[in-house]
Amino acid sequence: MRILVRVLPFLLFAFLLVPAAGAATDAATCLSCHESMEGSVKVEKEKYSKSVHGSFDCVMCHMTPKGDQHQGLVGSTPDKAVKDLAQEISPKGLKDPIAQAACVTCHPDQYAAYTKSIHGQNIITKKSSDGPVCTSCHGSPHYIEARPSAASKVYLYNIVISCGSCHEEKHLIEKYHFSPLVMERYQESFHGRKLLLGHTGAPSCASCHGAHDIVSVKDPASPVGSVEAKKKTCGKCHPGATDKFVAAITHQPLHPIAHWTEIGLIILTVSVFVFIIVHVLLDIFADIRDRLFRKGGGH
Ligand code: HEC
Ligand code: HEC
Ligand code: HEC
Ligand code: HEC
Ligand code: HEC
Ligand code: HEC
Ligand code: HEC
Repeated sequence: MRILVRVLPFLLFAFLLVPAAGAATDAATCLSCHESMEGSVKVEKEKYSKSVHGSFDCVMCHMTPKGDQHQGLVGSTPDKAVKDLAQEISPKGLKDPIAQAACVTCHPDQYAAYTKSIHGQNIITKKSSDGPVCTSCHGSPHYIEARPSAASKVYLYNIVISCGSCHEEKHLIEKYHFSPLVMERYQESFHGRKLLLGHTGAPSCASCHGAHDIVSVKDPASPVGSVEAKKKTCGKCHPGATDKFVAAITHQPLHPIAHWTEIGLIILTVSVFVFIIVHVLLDIFADIRDRLFRKGGGH
């Protein structure tokens, strides 16, 4: 009996060390090939392990590795939610829709909001491939970093670039009648300039439109649709925003008069500065000349 008590822990330990038959393939096995491959199928080990998902086995997302090259590798069985989603987002034409849908297992709230958003609906209901999936905004799923890091694709200023990758696209602007100047108007606005200068309180696209739950500005649920909604959204940062104040932000082209007034003001400001600088320089010059003249003993 005493021998059994002593041996049992060792037996248990040994049992845990021996992998069960059919255990999922670990990341090292996948990386043994994919680390040294070229192009989009290459996965950089260092960068991967630094990412938020870096401690995961690849098969947590790539549950069903297919094809001859993956023979003998053991994945896992996707549940119904993952399979249904993979089917729903199939119009996007992904290489591994199961991996793209796998996010729902751990991020159900973001997925729930996304599938109802205008972006998710574009793929799921309109069966179009134009709308974004998770990785369109977050970048490669292998290298996602948490938001405080400037490497995050949804870090304040990077959001503008992520949204712009589509909202600046000519064929999408034409197809969906987006304002052609959304990005330009944002970048030249107080908000865009402040953000570029590193003002962390300035709004990026998501501060006004949301992220996973973006809807059309014509939708009553839009945070920037009605005047009332805008008062709430702008009011987060501009307490007491009035009807008139919230009309100040739009992505529409400036009215020609406003446009030329703005250019006129810029020219005026620059001229005033040039005038002041020239004036000061002339003054200094006159001063030096006078002193030299006096030194020379003249009148
Ligand atoms: C023996 C080498 C090898 C191993 C091990 C390996 N792969 Fe691959 N994998 C390949 C090759 C070759 C391709 C095809 C590359 C191409 O199309 O250019 C590929 C393609 C892929 C693709 C692209 C989509 C597809 O199915 O074609 C994914 C995703 C993938 N592998 C995931 C994995 C995962 C996850 C593992 C570990 C469970 C793994 N691979 C292990 C060789 C390997
Ligand atoms: C957090 C989930 C997740 C993890 C973990 C993950 N992947 Fe991926 N991977 C994806 C998604 C999503 C795609 C994009 C699928 C698509 O667009 O069809 C992808 C794409 C790929 C591709 C194909 C790229 C291409 O465009 O041809 C390869 C190869 C791949 N992954 C290998 C790996 C390997 C190897 C690991 C482990 C070291 C791994 N992945 C871990 C989610 C993941
Ligand atoms: C239209 C672009 C876009 C798409 C598509 C998108 N995200 Fe995001 N995501 C963002 C932005 C922007 C943030 C940062 C939110 C913020 O700063 O308020 C974010 C933040 C997150 C976060 C951090 C927690 C949070 O909610 O703030 C997680 C997790 C996340 N996204 C997962 C996902 C998943 C999973 C999907 C796919 C269903 C997805 N995202 C699709 C833009 C997007
Ligand atoms: C097996 C669970 C799991 C899966 C599958 C998964 N994630 Fe994550 N994800 C996590 C965990 C855990 C974190 C770290 C959470 C934290 O630090 O708060 C994370 C973090 C993130 C973040 C960073 C959030 C932030 O704070 O900025 C994003 C974005 C994200 N995941 C997107 C995705 C996307 C896109 C997919 C699908 C391709 C995916 N995740 C699949 C578990 C998962
Ligand atoms: C300060 C709040 C605010 C910010 C920041 C903002 N928007 Fe908007 N957005 C609005 C308002 C208000 C509307 C309503 C239509 C209008 O007045 O142009 C709108 C409308 C839109 C529309 C639909 C109408 C159209 O003209 O196409 C799109 C698309 C859009 N915004 C994308 C973006 C993108 C991309 C960014 C980031 C570069 C961004 N927005 C930043 C407030 C904002
Ligand atoms: C992969 C491309 C893609 C990315 C990335 C993307 N969008 Fe979109 N967006 C679209 C498409 C396509 C539509 C039109 C969907 C439709 O009408 O069916 C759309 C629609 C919109 C609308 C509604 C326009 C309207 O009619 O009122 C807003 C607002 C918007 N996007 C904002 C954003 C913001 C903010 C981001 C970044 C966080 C972003 N989008 C990222 C493709 C994209
Ligand atoms: C996330 C916070 C945030 C949101 C949301 C926001 N703003 Fe701003 N806004 C700022 C910051 C920061 C500045 C720069 C203030 C400064 O430097 O004094 C600014 C500046 C402005 C200015 C320039 C004049 C001034 O008062 O400083 C106007 C006009 C303005 N915002 C209008 C709007 C409108 C309209 C909305 C809603 C559609 C809005 N803002 C939403 C943060 C925000």
